[in-house]
Amino acid sequence: MTALKSDHVALNLPSEVYAETKKAKSYWRWWNQLSRFQRSLIYMFVVAVLFTILYFLPGNSDSAIVDVEKPEVNTLKKDVLVNIRNDPRDVENDFNEIENDNQVLEEPGDVQIDDNSNIKHVLARPNTGVQFTGPTEERQKAVVEAFKHAWKGYKQFAWGHDHLKPISEGYHDWFGLGLTIVDSLDTIYIMGLKNEYAEAREWIDKHLHFDKNRDVNLFEVTIRVLGGLLSIYHLSGDRMYLNKAIDLGDRLLPCFETEMGVPFSDINLFTRKAHAPKWSPDSSTSEVTTIQLEFRDLSRSSGISKYENAAAKVSMHIHKLEKKDGLVPIFINANSGQFRSYSTITLGARGDSYYEYLLKQWIQTGKTIDYLRDDYIEGISGVEKHLTHRTVPNGFLFVGELLVGGKDFKPKMDHLTCYLPGTLALGVHYGMPESHMKLAEELLTTCYQTYAQQPTFLAPEITYFNIQGENSNDMYVKTNDAHNLLRPEFIESLWYMYQLTKNTTYQDWGWQIFQAFEKYTKVINGYTSIGNVRNTANVRPKDLMESFFLSETLKYLYLLFSDNPKLLDIDKYVVNSEAHPLPIYSS
Ligand SMILES: *[C@@H]1O[C@H](CO)[C@@H](O)[C@H](O)[C@H]1NC(C)=O
Repeated sequence: MTALKSDHVALNLPSEVYAETKKAKSYWRWWNQLSRFQRSLIYMFVVAVLFTILYFLPGNSDSAIVDVEKPEVNTLKKDVLVNIRNDPRDVENDFNEIENDNQVLEEPGDVQIDDNSNIKHVLARPNTGVQFTGPTEERQKAVVEAFKHAWKGYKQFAWGHDHLKPISEGYHDWFGLGLTIVDSLDTIYIMGLKNEYAEAREWIDKHLHFDKNRDVNLFEVTIRVLGGLLSIYHLSGDRMYLNKAIDLGDRLLPCFETEMGVPFSDINLFTRKAHAPKWSPDSSTSEVTTIQLEFRDLSRSSGISKYENAAAKVSMHIHKLEKKDGLVPIFINANSGQFRSYSTITLGARGDSYYEYLLKQWIQTGKTIDYLRDDYIEGISGVEKHLTHRTVPNGFLFVGELLVGGKDFKPKMDHLTCYLPGTLALGVHYGMPESHMKLAEELLTTCYQTYAQQPTFLAPEITYFNIQGENSNDMYVKTNDAHNLLRPEFIESLWYMYQLTKNTTYQDWGWQIFQAFEKYTKVINGYTSIGNVRNTANVRPKDLMESFFLSETLKYLYLLFSDNPKLLDIDKYVVNSEAHPLPIYSS
């Protein structure tokens, strides 16, 4: 069409120019034939006309504003127009295409559907993003250096793959989605690392595709990839990330097509076929209840309600199931929608973030969904009643587990459980019972001890506690549990607790642990998980740097060492289970 137009112009131009020149010549001859008086009259007339024009100018500029306004409305629409399948930079073309199509996109959430009934365009909410200026404290600068070191190794040996293997100088693929890049983006952005941000953005724009004939875990992909994309979308205001998030959301949605709406744990992103995990007929309770923040935000950002509807239905269903004083078993069947009745109750693996997302969903929705708050309060009471015990001889408080549906107590705590003090503190900030703060402080101290009592000053994956006085130590570690995967939960809790108490001891604890990471997990090409926290002479490096080290551990350290409480404002953002901040809505 553009080519046609310019042909037309080229054909007509010469004859028009010729005619103009001829006309100009005859006017000049006529002017020369006039007397001086006649010319003066014409001068005066021209001046009078000029004055008249100047006098009426306000009226003219009014109509000029009307002319400008229309394109402005269009620009606003363009700004929020999301192209689902194609390059978002084509938004100009898409905009014209939509106008010509007569398919009107007016309200956020209006969609245009293509011939295969896939969503083609969406009118999203406007989003301008926020700016970060980089580290201000010495300790923050040290964390940024650590991040750069990890990133450099990843870039050199594992670029585009899920994880770096820093010792063998290779990579590990789990889902084949460049996990480390997607997971790190908002950390990079918050740290103000411009070059790293540009290269990561470019990879996502050009190379992150979800047309992968590969099974992925719904929960892991939701908290890491969907959460990561939505978070960086909100922080940067860059629509490209929302496009990718919508595409991913569409591919994950078939998981929820079960009788009660409880999702299957796994799905093939290409065939969109969902199924239970290979090793069990059931889904994990924490997995099916730790996707709601992300799916809701996807709906709120895009205006397409189906994601939120599917995920919120799961929470509502679980709300109605019978529980033991608010505590849930760790397995649930996707077909029947029932808990597996003899499974373990724990705030560690497969149970943990059920409680976290009750509170955080309630916060995300502006404290408007009462059953979430009530289930959270009941759950924490259940924890106090059934799961907390004190060690001998020093009386450290810890959260243990109930086996066989609640009959046997096991004095064991996963490092994962150390997220709980932070969540409790966040809850108190939002009006939960003050008694939760005492619980948070005591549990945080116990978590600190799981680090401080190891010669490496790094916590093991699992700690056992002495409750009957069988020996003189409060806690002990089994050989199979002595590994440290660079996990974030304790640092996460330190950040919340420091935010809410301003007690600098929490910063100092974080610094001690950061130095232990530097000493025992830093290797020439990055950071590595280790196999043994009990032996400083040989920590048995495991040759893997998980994406959550960059997404969570280093992000929380960076935030912890900041003295700017608004750096990541907990009154504006709720942070998902993978440390990705998402906006708080009013309902
Ligand atoms: C700060 O926290 C530490 C560790 O819990 C505690 O011992 C100390 O008393 C607290 N300081 C203040 C001022 O509350």
